[in-house]
Amino acid sequence: MQTVAFIPDLRRTIRAWRDQGSSVAFVPTMGNLHAGHIRLVEEAKRQAERVVVSIFVNPTQFGPSEDFAAYPRTPAQDAGKLQAAGVDLLFLPGTSELYPSDPAAMTFVEVPGLFDDLCGRFRPGHFRGVATVVLKLLNQVQPDVALFGEKDYQQLIIIRRLVADLDLPVRIHGVPTVREPNGLAMSSRNGYLTPEEKNRAALLYAHLVEAAADLRRGERDLARIERERSAQLVALGLRPDYFAIRRQDDLSPPGPADARLVILVAAWLGAARLIDNVQVFL
Ligand code: PAJ
Repeated sequence: MQTVAFIPDLRRTIRAWRDQGSSVAFVPTMGNLHAGHIRLVEEAKRQAERVVVSIFVNPTQFGPSEDFAAYPRTPAQDAGKLQAAGVDLLFLPGTSELYPSDPAAMTFVEVPGLFDDLCGRFRPGHFRGVATVVLKLLNQVQPDVALFGEKDYQQLIIIRRLVADLDLPVRIHGVPTVREPNGLAMSSRNGYLTPEEKNRAALLYAHLVEAAADLRRGERDLARIERERSAQLVALGLRPDYFAIRRQDDLSPPGPADARLVILVAAWLGAARLIDNVQVFL
């Protein structure tokens, strides 16, 4: 595996692969890699002949009071995992490589409607930072396919919208969520949890699964499900930002005829803000 820190080196390697006629898959990450990230890499290897992974803790997607400074950074361990997984190229840029000019004065992209709803409502500017860095990385790598986890469902929908709206020549491939044996969705932020909190955090998924069963049984009072499940999470000592039932395709509130739904939750537990979701097909 080759590791590069600068965009010209990244482009040179990828151009050489292109000259040989190779296809390229890309997995953007913020590092501190776990089995969820590695699943994306494995899927990437099935999708293209060459696999590029980036690790960049993107400052523009963190709010001023969020965990940018504390976010776990484990580049040596990550490189070992990526090498073992058969990645061809690791792109590990410094902040000045991705943001050479003052971020306060640079171009940003926004995806209206989606970026200030759900997580965007509680993390102002977060999806603007995500959309912008993903667009930059896609322009740098120019892959045939880019892979994103369904774990970050709103992020995936925003990136699909961005790619469609701006005619980016890349296929976006969503990968199902990888979970711990107790159901907890794997996340770099799970490292903020104590062992006891990790057990309690698994209740998020349990409540998503039960809410999905409520829907499949014919319960159609969505507001009631959202209200009651939120209250139950509070009673368990979690602090939910939202528990919401939406349309899978665009995350808008469902109408009576909608059969493709997704139930999304974001909740604080101790020092960690956890998100998860399950898709329901009625
Ligand atoms: P990060 O949180 O490192 O996640 C990188 C990719 O791994 C994302 O597509 C995410 O959805 C996926 N992922 C994380 N946990 C997963 C799990 N348990 N199962 C399956 N996939 C999982 O998401 C980001 O970084 C950043 O916002 C980024 C897109 C890199 C832009 O900075």
